[in-house]
Amino acid sequence: MAYDSAHISRSFSANSNGYSPQMIEKSALKWIVLATTAMEGGNESLAGAINPPTSILGQPAISMEGNMKPHETNLLLQAKYNITAYFYDILDYPWERVYRQWRPSLEGDLRGKVLEVGVGTGRNLQFYHQDIDLVAIDLSNQMLHRAKKRMTKSKCKVRLVNEDATTMQSINSNEYDWVFSTFMCCVMPDEIQQLAIKQFSRVLKQDGRFRVLEIVFSKNSQIKKRQERLASFVEKVYGARFDRNTLSYFEQSPHLKITNTSYLKDDTYLLIEGVHV
Ligand SMILES: C[S@@+](CC[C@H](N)C(=O)[O-])C[C@H]1O[C@@H](n2cnc3c(N)ncnc32)[C@H](O)[C@@H]1O
Repeated sequence: MAYDSAHISRSFSANSNGYSPQMIEKSALKWIVLATTAMEGGNESLAGAINPPTSILGQPAISMEGNMKPHETNLLLQAKYNITAYFYDILDYPWERVYRQWRPSLEGDLRGKVLEVGVGTGRNLQFYHQDIDLVAIDLSNQMLHRAKKRMTKSKCKVRLVNEDATTMQSINSNEYDWVFSTFMCCVMPDEIQQLAIKQFSRVLKQDGRFRVLEIVFSKNSQIKKRQERLASFVEKVYGARFDRNTLSYFEQSPHLKITNTSYLKDDTYLLIEGVHV
């Protein structure tokens, strides 16, 4: 997730095909902002007009498992990610260079039946231990489409499911040893986040564990200023906000006990860990 413009320009440089990543990123951004603005304004004809051409799609959307009936407030987020998916990995690349240093240790001790919620383009898939039986869900078919390509790098058994975290209709209760999620709650509107956390609680076994990584506003005024400068872009493109109340929703959950909170960098990347009691 992008929120440090200085970092973007340092990390990108021109490549050999004549199109610098900055140029690609700029046009991708323009396209995403235009598309999401059209959808948010309810301008269906404009949103339709800027639907991705089939040459970008490459192949028809794959059919995923699950019987998704997204909550109404999820529909915009789903549409947003079905567009953002085309550029997600490019836009996120500078941050992913940091995240991928964290991902192996975030997942290293996970075993058994694992549910990854909001798998996105599958950035976590290659780091799961081979003994894991993984179900990975996402609201966006287009994000899953990219995750499917990353399945080849995975050492464990993976099942991708097009499913809404707030309902998890196709996911059995009391079945998972772990629920794992990176940067999903921060994109979920506050009013439905609690529904997802309730589902975490439902699908976890007794003593099952959860680990969730989110972004939050820093208390350091300089860092916060930088975050505020990027806040509208981050919300427009990813639906993410720095002021979600994720931690308090976990604290309020009657059967989820928080065992540890820590920051992976500054006081902005908040890791919440706990157990189903
Ligand atoms: C910021 S991306 C993070 C992707 C990935 N976890 C990562 O670390 O790169 C957020 C993902 O959450 C998904 N998402 C948002 N709301 C969801 C919901 N209600 N159910 C399932 N997935 C959801 C989005 O489609 C998107 O793929």
